[in-house]
Amino acid sequence: MTALIDLASHLAGDPSSPAVKTVVTEIAAACARISRVVAGGAILGNLGAAGITNVQDEEQKKLDILTNDLLSDALKACEPVAGIASEELEHVETTGRHGGYLVTFDPLDGSSNIDVNVSVGTIFSILPAPEGREPTEADFLQPGRHQVGAGYAVYGPQTMLVLTLTSGVVGFTLSADDRWLLTHAKSTIPADTAEFAINMSNQRHWAAPIRRYVDGCLQGKEGPRAKNFNMRWVASMVADVHRILMRGGIFMYPWDAREPTKPGKLRLMYEANPMALIVERAGGKATDGVTPILDLAPSKLHQRVPVVLGSANEVDEVARETVAG
Ligand code: AHG
Ligand code: MN
Ligand code: MN
Repeated sequence: MTALIDLASHLAGDPSSPAVKTVVTEIAAACARISRVVAGGAILGNLGAAGITNVQDEEQKKLDILTNDLLSDALKACEPVAGIASEELEHVETTGRHGGYLVTFDPLDGSSNIDVNVSVGTIFSILPAPEGREPTEADFLQPGRHQVGAGYAVYGPQTMLVLTLTSGVVGFTLSADDRWLLTHAKSTIPADTAEFAINMSNQRHWAAPIRRYVDGCLQGKEGPRAKNFNMRWVASMVADVHRILMRGGIFMYPWDAREPTKPGKLRLMYEANPMALIVERAGGKATDGVTPILDLAPSKLHQRVPVVLGSANEVDEVARETVAG
């Protein structure tokens, strides 16, 4: 087998600015450290709840806090970073530096899976920062199209880092000696699929279009879709999106009537935008049901959004149902 190239060699051939590459390198190093902290599990005494809730009113796990601190500290010390925003922090934090980049992140996605040893991950998004002054919270509220890069790390049977910068989607696997080696040179999502991902236990709370779409899948060969579908739901967005990147599929976290005033569960700035950029760059689609996620104008830092992403023809099918009402 020929030797695999590492992240630094890959970045050397990428047309992104040196500053973006510095930010990505720092995030990758932090994710390698997070991988160890996650893998240490009960040995390190890191499992279980922290006994407090975050700004989203969600119970924080000890690892939510540890990983948030680890990534925040690394990014605040990183020269080209002017500000950060995290799912776990109420407000944005600035570094006192001007220009460069803003980073938004979900330090540990899939918290409900930590204590049961199922894949979790880290998601990040890199946005340009304003020149000549410190950024404010309003500067973070840029549409996803403005991202100069996005990615995620998945801590599973293998720890992987998936990245998109100026084009394409690449994947690295963390080696035993802590190097990110390029194992997936160009990931693409097939336009067609027969696999869907949604939390079926919320079925009775969905709006009619999602009910109709999923019902069509469930009817299989005998129904309107005339083919059998399979279902998977890891309940870590990172792991569900990673599966879709590897073999296609559609992922949905729609609005539902459990909390009717919330547009959805997933967060635009930390989850939907970075994943939407990756999915589009891999040839898939990502919408809120109809509108591309990347075209949404954020109005709040912790804004939630319905998410439908993955194989293009299935995302279009959901859009048809949504428009039909
Ligand atoms: P987080 O752990 O960062 O709060 O995100 C969890 C999200 C996402 O990863 C996943 O797709 C979804 O919540 C799972 O929701 P259910 O509990 O409804 O399955
Ligand atoms: Mn999350
Ligand atoms: Mn999280």
